[in-house]
Amino acid sequence: MYNKEKWRGSEAQTAYESLLVEAEALLSGETDWLANLANTAALVYVTLPDLNWAGFYLNKGDELVLGPFQGKPACVRIPWGKGVCGTAAQQRATVLVPDVHQFPGHIACDPASRSEIVVPIIHGGNVWGVLDLDAPYEGRFSQLDQKYLERLVDLLNQYIDWQAACSSR
Ligand code: SME
Repeated sequence: MYNKEKWRGSEAQTAYESLLVEAEALLSGETDWLANLANTAALVYVTLPDLNWAGFYLNKGDELVLGPFQGKPACVRIPWGKGVCGTAAQQRATVLVPDVHQFPGHIACDPASRSEIVVPIIHGGNVWGVLDLDAPYEGRFSQLDQKYLERLVDLLNQYIDWQAACSSR
């Protein structure tokens, strides 16, 4: 059973700090945006406990299109403003959903998902996409997850050519 208190404590901080170090090592050694997003999704998925999905949606023509991810196959296109992902992109703010069944308009890609956090990717004033994590337990994500996942997006912004990523069709 998922131990929320444990993950909110020092163990979580330590895991996130090393995740950021590993992410920077991966990103700084490569310029290919697809390779970098794929490795980042994999790093998140294998490092953080109790996830059933982790990955990216990219802003292409005012809809979010599925990018590199780990987990079950997911819905490919999410209209701007729809679902948790489209809401985070439209509001330009992280959306933390303790219980997806209570979020109006939640898009259920994997019925196992019970909680979700979506961090918008904002750089140079533009919203380039979102980082989306799903968990099979209610209340999986906390302010601590939000803080570190936003730091991960800040790191991605230093290394990813979002223009290139979002112009591919
Ligand atoms: N639940 C998301 C859709 C994407 S999947 O979780 C991978 C949403 O409501 O936007």
